[in-house]
Amino acid sequence: MKNSKRAKRHPRIMRSLVALRRAIANFRGHGRTIALVPTMGALHEGHFSLVRRAQNRADCVVVSIFVNPTQFAPHEDLATYPRTFAADVAALADRQVDLVWAPSVRTMYPDGFATRVVPAGPAAVGLEDASRPHFFAGVATVVAKLLIQCEPDIALFGEKDYQQLKVLTQLGRDLGLKTRIVGAPIVRERDGLALSSRNSYFSPAERQSAPLLYRALKQAAAKIEAGAAVAETLKEAREAIMRAGLQVDYFEARNADTLEPLQGSGGEPIRLLAAVRIGTTRLIDNIAV
Ligand code: PAJ
Repeated sequence: MKNSKRAKRHPRIMRSLVALRRAIANFRGHGRTIALVPTMGALHEGHFSLVRRAQNRADCVVVSIFVNPTQFAPHEDLATYPRTFAADVAALADRQVDLVWAPSVRTMYPDGFATRVVPAGPAAVGLEDASRPHFFAGVATVVAKLLIQCEPDIALFGEKDYQQLKVLTQLGRDLGLKTRIVGAPIVRERDGLALSSRNSYFSPAERQSAPLLYRALKQAAAKIEAGAAVAETLKEAREAIMRAGLQVDYFEARNADTLEPLQGSGGEPIRLLAAVRIGTTRLIDNIAV
């Protein structure tokens, strides 16, 4: 009875901070725990896996949908980023999400907004930050705001954006936030391509070559695991990707915790992280060794 009632209910859509705070206070008043899943919308199974995990770990789930302008550089795809709000809300209703936090840009960044969170540590290791120097300050600022606004017990982020997950874990620790930052595994298509809202940019031919990145990561991880030299393995992987006509931004092995270059002494946890360009679309992925 309770479930069938819940299934029919649309999530409540909050657009003002006052309404959001009232709803959060109401959850708290009933002694409920809260999980937040921050997104930029154009939701897919990767996002939904975070929602499912959130539902398993908290009484109420808030999904934020906000295409955050401060994490896009002027030459990037803010204007064309896919926006599918009605479909997103319908999908979240099917999944019985309690609340959607969908502020406008004005609400998030009112006139005169002048405070930024500028992360270092894992945000400054020469991976995503090398090609997108603006990116992590934009992400850290908006996520700090979302965490303060929603006051969740936990917030879930995908390993798809592994560096982002590390930056936000560090942010939670450094700012002494009560929210626990929780990572979740990458959801992939059958051919290995990691799900991403930006996959819709691929032409059919580009889409066909996209799984190459994951194949290269998997092969390199297996070789390193079997004892092959790291530098040589990475070089071969980069060359294989370039031969297929893709441009390599980076294809690196890093300490899985700090994202710093490997010390070379062995025994460190290793993560392979890569970014390539296929046509004008940038694709990132990563894998544990
Ligand atoms: P967005 O790209 O919409 O992703 C929202 C969350 O979904 C992120 O935590 C991301 O890592 C996760 N995600 C995306 N694709 C995934 C996949 N294939 N498998 C598992 N998880 C996946 O990341 C952002 O938005 C923004 O930077 C945000 C954190 C919301 C700040 O604006």
